[in-house]
Amino acid sequence: MQTKWNVTAAVPLPRRLVYDNGLGKTPIMGWSGWNKYECKINEKIVFGNTDALVRHGLDQLGYNYVIVDDCWAAYKRDKQGNLKSHPTTFPSGMKALADYAHSKGLKFGLYSDAGRRTCIGHRAGSEDHEIRDAKTFASWGVDYLKYDNCFHKKHYYPHLRYPVMSEALNKSGRPIFYTICEWGEDHPALWAGKYANSWRTSLDVKDRWDRIQILADDNNMWAAYAGPGGWNDPDMLQVGNGRMSVAEYRSHFSIWSIMKAPLIIGCELRKIREEHLEIYKNKEIIDINQDPLGIQARKVSRQGRCKCREVWAGPLSGKRIVLALWNRDWRRVAIKVNWFDLGLEPGVSVCVRDLWKHEDWSERQQDGFEVAIDSHDCGVYILSDVRLTSDNVYVIADHVF
Ligand code: GLA
Repeated sequence: MQTKWNVTAAVPLPRRLVYDNGLGKTPIMGWSGWNKYECKINEKIVFGNTDALVRHGLDQLGYNYVIVDDCWAAYKRDKQGNLKSHPTTFPSGMKALADYAHSKGLKFGLYSDAGRRTCIGHRAGSEDHEIRDAKTFASWGVDYLKYDNCFHKKHYYPHLRYPVMSEALNKSGRPIFYTICEWGEDHPALWAGKYANSWRTSLDVKDRWDRIQILADDNNMWAAYAGPGGWNDPDMLQVGNGRMSVAEYRSHFSIWSIMKAPLIIGCELRKIREEHLEIYKNKEIIDINQDPLGIQARKVSRQGRCKCREVWAGPLSGKRIVLALWNRDWRRVAIKVNWFDLGLEPGVSVCVRDLWKHEDWSERQQDGFEVAIDSHDCGVYILSDVRLTSDNVYVIADHVF
């Protein structure tokens, strides 16, 4: 008889509410200017970074959405009531940018707001213009819409406002990836899966270690709701913007990847430093993010008096397990993984591959192991060829192996 061994990491919940526009079967990857430029964006920057994305071969690794966030639009609509781009900063119009991205085999994303005005740019928003704007986006060749949450009618809740644009996009005649940005305020993981391909779970990301940790913890809470077609979004990547160490950026990228977050590069690609590019280009970590099983890894243990030496894990296709050892402590420490934390029976043996060192370990591991990890760094491993000691099954993050 098969018995489940241990369900430490399992939370048996209905997985998802499916919004079926056929998009986002794996988390999307791409580039957006917001983290670096905020409102100081213009078309020259977007064209230049699109070129750099391709020059660095990032498109070949899956980073194929070029996204323009807030501040592309004019403050007012045109005389017919249509959205238009800002005449000074985006004089060629947004269709020209979409065409350019498409000519390079990329996709193009834009931003609008589920209120009267956009958040920081204070440009025209889409509330009460959803059908018209969705048609405009489709006519420009837009493939992705980020929909923000500022200056809306009072007492008109997100779970009422966001579906309006969702329906308008579905009727626009063009498949458009739809991502909700209401900062996790109304727990969108509980309802947004019916209307969107991803939803923010927290505050805005900053190029700061404390903020990265907050976002990771917030996003972790909603792991059970992510899956193919609809993902939790802890915001875009800050790797390369210069205020964190390489170890911290490695942690940021590792945890975002295993959480199945959208991987949206948020730095200047025209002059990115080699060590930052290397992080974005770690194909083995990207493959974890893009694994077809699409299950978000979770925090399964916290160690030390500080409770800041962490083990995260989740299932992958091919009966493999991804494991991250994240050292949030101020010094180098050993972090231990016990099979118990993973839902594996003692005695089970596995092969281990280190995805940052790109090395297979020579010995199989049994019962667990420990690795010394530098302060603020994160090791990522794949456990494979899991040899059970009996005919038990094991369960990780509600996935039965
Ligand atoms: C909000 C969002 C950010 C960004 C800005 C633009 O703060 O959370 O990601 O889109 O608006 O104004």
